[in-house]
Amino acid sequence: MSQSPLPVVRPVAELRGKVRAWRAAGERIGFVPTMGALHEGHLSLVQLARQHAQRVVVSIFVNPTQFAPHEDFDAYPRGEARDAELLAAAGCDLLFAPTVAEMYPSGFATTVTVGGVTEPLDGAARPGHFAGVATVVSKLLNQCGPDVAVFGEKDYQQLQVIRRLVRDLDLPVEIVGAPTARAPDGLALSSRNAYLTPAERKIAPSLARTLGAACAGLRAGARVSDVEAEAVAALTAAGFRRVDYVEVRTAEDLSRLGPGPITSPARILAAAFLGKTRLIDNFAV
Ligand code: PAF
Repeated sequence: MSQSPLPVVRPVAELRGKVRAWRAAGERIGFVPTMGALHEGHLSLVQLARQHAQRVVVSIFVNPTQFAPHEDFDAYPRGEARDAELLAAAGCDLLFAPTVAEMYPSGFATTVTVGGVTEPLDGAARPGHFAGVATVVSKLLNQCGPDVAVFGEKDYQQLQVIRRLVRDLDLPVEIVGAPTARAPDGLALSSRNAYLTPAERKIAPSLARTLGAACAGLRAGARVSDVEAEAVAALTAAGFRRVDYVEVRTAEDLSRLGPGPITSPARILAAAFLGKTRLIDNFAV
């Protein structure tokens, strides 16, 4: 049986109208912000949102302000019709797909910057990225007004930035982190995996394997500094062209740990280039 088409709204006023009607009927609203090019990982976020709410709204907006000029904004994969079919089948009730002019009308002049947790790792490697994310997520949460919003742990630093933002600005929404969806060989699902050549795709799972081995070392009492250095060497040997970072940080605010064995909840995070594609991954330690 074919799925009925997913309702799509583009103006913020229409999104608010739909959400208002659901809320008046006593329904909880779940929200999953995305940039489209959806895969099983996104669909698992929709399914998790369904467990928390009667209605699920998904946004698709390739946000120009979180891409640096040399990054892949123009090349970022887009395909709304396919995405809408996947979302309908996954139990989404409404797709919010605003235009750039709707999100950033002429005269737009506000940026939301979060301190601390935005500074290391991707914040250092991609200056301005988290200001773009924090600004667009603030807008999306205001526009939709959900009870709960779901973000993937695949972008763990982003998740912690959004948790900080929501706490600091008293936004009335519960943030839920969803476990990273992986291919059978361990590669974290990502829209950017589509850029990998067949040869690179074979190498890509060594990112997760390397981090898994690093976690095992840390649990066995290895020193943070040794584990980080060994992981960088392993990724380089596997064929990664450039390793932006492999770092073990505190799980909550991603601050630095001492060089010795870990004594409190931590996260190991990595970003590395395979050819032109930048892959990220992370594990709880
Ligand atoms: O994770 C993403 O897809 C994006 O960073 C987000 C949260 C949708 C903001 O543009």
